[in-house]
Amino acid sequence: MSPQAKRVEEAGQVGLRFMRNPAEIGPDDFFKTSDAVRHAFADLINADQAIRVSLAPAASYGIATAARNLEVPKGSEIVVLFEQFPSNIYTWRRLASERGLKLIEISPPKLSAHRGKIWNERILESISSSTSAVCLPTVHWTDGTRFDLKAIATRVREVDAALIVDGTQSVGAMPFDVQEIRPDCLICAGYKWLLGPYSIGMVYWGERFDDGIPLEENWVTRKGSENFASVMIYQDAYREGAIRYDVGERSNFILMPMMLEAIRMVSELEPSRIQDYCHELTSEMLDEAVELGYQLESEPFRSHHLFGIRVPDGIPFDRLKGKLADHHVSVSVRGNAIRVSPNVYNNSGDVDALLSALRACVTESVQ
Ligand SMILES: Cc1ncc(COP(=O)(O)O)c(C=O)c1O
Repeated sequence: MSPQAKRVEEAGQVGLRFMRNPAEIGPDDFFKTSDAVRHAFADLINADQAIRVSLAPAASYGIATAARNLEVPKGSEIVVLFEQFPSNIYTWRRLASERGLKLIEISPPKLSAHRGKIWNERILESISSSTSAVCLPTVHWTDGTRFDLKAIATRVREVDAALIVDGTQSVGAMPFDVQEIRPDCLICAGYKWLLGPYSIGMVYWGERFDDGIPLEENWVTRKGSENFASVMIYQDAYREGAIRYDVGERSNFILMPMMLEAIRMVSELEPSRIQDYCHELTSEMLDEAVELGYQLESEPFRSHHLFGIRVPDGIPFDRLKGKLADHHVSVSVRGNAIRVSPNVYNNSGDVDALLSALRACVTESVQ
């Protein structure tokens, strides 16, 4: 979860105060901030139509919407990855059991210098004419392993399967270009690298999902819903594009302005510059960590804003946890690795603290 930037927090406070007096809330307020979020997100991912973006309360909601609208012949295969985030697994498991599909989980090899490369090769090899969908993240949430989405997307198109991408762990801190990758669906929870609030996310939908059926039916997604006086004249038609997939009460007057401010901030900072900053910030530290015996994914297959560091053989993992606590370093623990997730709010002092903890852990083991 990202820290809440002051300008994002202030946008939420303005929204809270706005709700004091409902007489001041006009029909237009139910549309304008949501549409501004669609536009800001579309610009960030280089989508040419903002109406291809829907608003969701969580990544799982976008995944469920995609699953509901996929054409999946009985016996066909859905490709997912080893230890993929659960919100992008359970829906596929259910779909597979309900429709008689095979869920194929692609694992990396055991630790090796070429783990990321081999994992990517295995993904490509797993896609065949039996595949109906490939549902995977941009980078792995446990250790930042990068997936070559351009090559995967090309292979997915060759077999006419659907590509469902979970961008939650990179969009905002790493460039994503929908015109280059052309996913059928790109789902992003907003509270991580998009620096937004909890309980809101954005989903980009490609043409495969035009004319689909939403998970729920709400008034605001229907054609003409801006005419409040006539919403009881029921409409069969939805508003244009992917707006039909918006969650009910999506015009949240607190979260939506916060999300807008967050996407604007990330766009000003620029994802490519954030990636470069994290690279510069951590590269010397990582070189020394490797000299100390720590293990890392090789560079082309590792993101710079999210990466795992595995302890050298023979060193008890708990010792590293202790040293990290001594140096006030906050990182996530995943198996026998730590997951480091720097961003623009980190500086060389933070990296020095992490390196000191890594050094102390090894030095104590040698003594
Ligand atoms: C890859 C990935 N996707 C999605 C999520 C969040 O899922 P949801 O919004 O369904 O809670 C996370 C949270 O850690 C994640 O790592």
